[in-house]
Amino acid sequence: MNSYRGPRFVLGIETSCDETCAAVLLNGKDVLSNIVSSQIEVHAEFGGIVPEIASRKHIEAINIVVKNALKEANVDFKQIDAVAVTQGPGLVGSLVVGLSYAKACAFSSGKKITGVNHVHAHLLAPFLSKKGLTFPFTGLVVSGGHTSIYYVSDYLSFKPIGRTRDDAAGEAFDKVAKILGLPYPGGPVISRLSIEGDKDSFKFPRAMLPDTPFDFSFSGLKTAVLQTVKRLEKEKASIPLNDICASFQEAVVEVLVKKTIMAAKEYGCKNVVISGGVSANKRLRELMEKTCEAEGLELFCPDLSFCTDNAAMVALCGFYQIKEGILLGPEADVYSRIIYS
Ligand code: KG4
Ligand code: ZN
Repeated sequence: MNSYRGPRFVLGIETSCDETCAAVLLNGKDVLSNIVSSQIEVHAEFGGIVPEIASRKHIEAINIVVKNALKEANVDFKQIDAVAVTQGPGLVGSLVVGLSYAKACAFSSGKKITGVNHVHAHLLAPFLSKKGLTFPFTGLVVSGGHTSIYYVSDYLSFKPIGRTRDDAAGEAFDKVAKILGLPYPGGPVISRLSIEGDKDSFKFPRAMLPDTPFDFSFSGLKTAVLQTVKRLEKEKASIPLNDICASFQEAVVEVLVKKTIMAAKEYGCKNVVISGGVSANKRLRELMEKTCEAEGLELFCPDLSFCTDNAAMVALCGFYQIKEGILLGPEADVYSRIIYS
């Protein structure tokens, strides 16, 4: 048995997408700092993330973000025992900035370094918030880049059981927002407009994919919204934004909830986790909570600050890897996609 209790202070670094993040985690549980520098304003102008701009912005921000994380945690870099960095999946240019920075920090000072899978970090994020989560659990990761269901049996064992065949749920929110002339990112604004809308006013499709019941597909839904808007424009009718948003949101949420609950039952899990940017969605939380309750399951969502991209979850995931001696060497590279076996 491994008697090593794990690193005391872990510096987490996350640059997989459009947020430069650093955090300091104490003893694998206490978040001493969690700094997020968002690039959303820069990308909003283009209606989506521009990878080249993202990597440049990470280079500009990373040093100051890490320094701020150390300062807020009141920890000197010398006290840091190990560095945990997102190695993939994500935008290659953005990941390279974080990994190179982390390697430079670690190898120049003889500290341990581990490479974290961003999706695994999202799955463990609820451990930073609500108490009582135990293994095994069924986890839904819903973000701008991912819509996947996992069976998680311990801090190091993640079995993918479903994933999206086309767009991620967050991507669908962002694309539908674009169709409706709404700003990027689409999730928060669609969620806001939906409050005033009627979710039953438009019958948008729910792709249940009976042959692969834990997989997702949102491209048909996105096309259905586009066709509805085009039809209304042709008829010179006004576009009922709130109703379209509410109906679209309901179609996404219903599919996410049904498939996650189905997976939890199939895999015999009492605990359900939702994480990733889209898990900030109020309607998703509400319907998932209600359905879990009805099915005798318990739902665990991270606090909002740990739902979207952050480095505290990376430090947490990294803590358990370092504890088990899973470390990176200087030759380590990033990976843009998850290879499903
Ligand atoms: O996890 P995240 O911050 O970054 C990625 O790893 O992608 O997720 C960002 C995504 C965006 O697509 C955004 O539109 C979506 O999360 N999002 C939401 C909400 N807040 C953010 N989607 C639905 N409802 C929300 N309230
Ligand atoms: Zn993410």
